[in-house]
Amino acid sequence: SLKANIGKYEFNNVMLNAAGIRCATTDELTKVLNSEAGGCVTKSATPEPREGNESPRMKATPLGCINSMGLPNHGLDYYLKFAEENQGKDGKQVLLSIAGLTVDQNLEMLHKIQESSFNGLVELNLSCPNIKGESQIAYDFEAVRDILTKTFKFFTKDLGIKLPPYFDLHQFDQIADVLNDFPIAYVNSINSIGNGLIVNPETESVVIKPKGGFGGLGGDYVKPTALANVRALRLRLKPEIAIIGTGGIKSGRDVFEHVLCGANVVQIGTAFGFEDVKIFSRISKELSEIMAEKGYSSLDDFRGKLKTL
Ligand code: DHB
Repeated sequence: SLKANIGKYEFNNVMLNAAGIRCATTDELTKVLNSEAGGCVTKSATPEPREGNESPRMKATPLGCINSMGLPNHGLDYYLKFAEENQGKDGKQVLLSIAGLTVDQNLEMLHKIQESSFNGLVELNLSCPNIKGESQIAYDFEAVRDILTKTFKFFTKDLGIKLPPYFDLHQFDQIADVLNDFPIAYVNSINSIGNGLIVNPETESVVIKPKGGFGGLGGDYVKPTALANVRALRLRLKPEIAIIGTGGIKSGRDVFEHVLCGANVVQIGTAFGFEDVKIFSRISKELSEIMAEKGYSSLDDFRGKLKTL
């Protein structure tokens, strides 16, 4: 079976879409819920609807993609209503993603969610790299402590945190020290690798318009970084904090590797963008075949059991 769970929340499949990919409208979200995925994640919401950055703002490449979308979304009320109406149906979860442009916007949205009838998982995105003039909050460890301190003074629902990739082992120690002080349900690692640059040598140009061409990388570029982040966090976070592994998944083998590193659930962004919902059935089959060959009947049989030499 490919069942998974985060605390009391059960997923009939280990795979979800990653926030931002084919999840901005209720039609797209419903399509994910009706697929083999174990649930869906809503496009990161801001308090009010946003158009996002100027186009072109996403470019696919042979190894993945670069984007600087700038949080185009329909606003919190739109996604909160969808989440209230669809949470927990048929073994599928709706994860409600929020990404305020400021701490106050995040707290305002968390208050609204606290007062709503939604009782599923909320994913607080502290790692959007594409807002002009704003930095990725989760690279500032004291800022993370501050927002979580303020949040847990009133927020009693189940909260996950979407993290950016870290690259220095000391950063993993520091973020884990902060996160372990709070009753967090999960961390989602990683968001895109922020502020990469793709160059077209023929046109001698960047390939997306916002921010002079700098944007978040996804796809093959990011898988080893994602695996390192899942593994490093699993070795440091308290066991009550689950991990969603995101980054570079496009095959059953990739899911297998993320789970070996410690992922409880996984999310698929770039490859889901390329392949649409049929990716969830294809990868389910591939992962089931790998598990059958190895004699594993559940993800628990190998989760976190990565060997070292
Ligand atoms: C966007 C990109 C991200 O990686 C993210 O976490 C949130 C938003 C965006 O540009 O829309």
